[in-house]
Amino acid sequence: MTDYESLIPAVKAVTAQCPHFIANLANTSALIWEYMDDLNWAGFYLMQDGKLVLGPFQGKVACTEIEVGSGVCGTAVATGETQLVADVHQFEGHIACDSASNSEIVVPLRRSGLVFGVLDIDSPSLGRFTEEDKVQLEKLAEVLQDNL
Ligand code: SME
Repeated sequence: MTDYESLIPAVKAVTAQCPHFIANLANTSALIWEYMDDLNWAGFYLMQDGKLVLGPFQGKVACTEIEVGSGVCGTAVATGETQLVADVHQFEGHIACDSASNSEIVVPLRRSGLVFGVLDIDSPSLGRFTEEDKVQLEKLAEVLQDNL
């Protein structure tokens, strides 16, 4: 179980005192990597010219561009809803950036109601992410959005 009672305040503390957007995303990916176990990738994709472009992350080299509506990340943008995927191999159109990934959660990030990017977290274990992770990571996204 992730200690969200420590992780979310840590994200708040680190980002509240820093006015730099990319620095805040980079440090948030580092905190997620530190506090959550059983991950192989954690980071951000940001909307740029109508597509998702790779942002700060922890893990292996990843795809640099994702179309809205494509893969798990693009679906999160298209629907505006968190995507909780227990088995990425069953998700039609899943983009396998890292072949180690077996489950994934993608949370949309919003500013003034508009999705400007996503938080993407991957695990080598099937079914790694729960409804509780979804609730807590949506809270983390809210704290982060307020400090960007
Ligand atoms: N699997 C994602 C692509 C990004 S990587 O997981 C880092 C997707 O299907 O959108």
